[in-house]
Amino acid sequence: MSLSEIPSELLDEKKSMDYKNGDPSKIDGYQRRILTGMRPSGNLHLGHYVGALKNWLDFQDKFDCTFLLADLHALADHMEKPDFVRQSIRNVVGDWLSVGIDPEKANFTVQTGVPELENLTVLFETLVPLSVLQRNPTLKAELARMEEGQKTVSFHNYPVSEAADILGPLGDLVPAGDDQRPMIELTRSIARRFNTQFGKEAGFKFALPQIYTGTHGRLSGTDGNEKMGKTLNNAIFLTDSTDVVRKKVRSMKSSTKGLQDPGNSDAHLVFTYLDAFASDRERLKDLKARYDVGGVGEGEVKKFLEEELEIFLRPIREKRAEVDANPQLIEDTIATGTKRTRLIVAEVSDRVRHAMGLFNAR
Ligand code: TRP
Repeated sequence: MSLSEIPSELLDEKKSMDYKNGDPSKIDGYQRRILTGMRPSGNLHLGHYVGALKNWLDFQDKFDCTFLLADLHALADHMEKPDFVRQSIRNVVGDWLSVGIDPEKANFTVQTGVPELENLTVLFETLVPLSVLQRNPTLKAELARMEEGQKTVSFHNYPVSEAADILGPLGDLVPAGDDQRPMIELTRSIARRFNTQFGKEAGFKFALPQIYTGTHGRLSGTDGNEKMGKTLNNAIFLTDSTDVVRKKVRSMKSSTKGLQDPGNSDAHLVFTYLDAFASDRERLKDLKARYDVGGVGEGEVKKFLEEELEIFLRPIREKRAEVDANPQLIEDTIATGTKRTRLIVAEVSDRVRHAMGLFNAR
């Protein structure tokens, strides 16, 4: 553990909170740490791949990575279904492994497997004015959609818990969607406040984490809805069979133009999928050109997407079958990663407790 060696650049408030693609993953020999996570609630779909996993695959080779299964946050959404959340952890890990996220390179960490994070959350709550949470736009939007009974204290607090998730394992870079920006701002303000008030006593300072939204693509649902999701019934899952994918592609929203009419491939849902997944870029370019002048039907475009999704998903399905044949692999993967993360968080949490003046009877 090297708690005191965080380079001054990462403590500098004037440094942008946005990480730029291509910025180095090491500063003066210090290996930067990525911390990001997902709420385990069901299987992952192509939107998760384009928006997150694709970047993780790239990052796992360059950074010290911790990928968090935020089961506490999932439970806050699904209090009545703990078994569903527990099963979802396994499904999500299966999906991560199947696309090539490598537990040798990244710590797969179950949030509630590191109870010290809960401890840190409580301590950080003392550094956050309630009004700051009340103004958090992401939280506000989520609360607006919820029923009164679902709006628990725990849910209101999840931004603080997210700050603990990031700072506990000493994360300094968070690849995430733009909706997470208010959480990173909060995390930075907690870090700043801790550093100023308790940094000396603690003997270390937290890096002010940056967010990376960079190449995060977005993939709309098969119905054209901006969000893809299970409940919206518009998602293609990584675990979908060839037949299911074919059906979903055939029912995708497309143009009603006549066969001979010129089209607009730039504003066409199926082409946005092809942009994301086509391995044969020449064929895609050619198809777009032909589609735009007229003479190409919707069927041909969808047929191409079917073929490309098959090329993309086949190895993922094969890897998944291997993983599913050995359930112990998932258990070992999360146990190993979670323990590794816990070692760091336990030390950080001890130091924070001490610096903030908490009683220690040991
Ligand atoms: N709240 C995040 C989401 O719903 C998941 C999450 C939990 C997370 N802890 C995190 C993301 C820490 C980034 C960093 O997507």
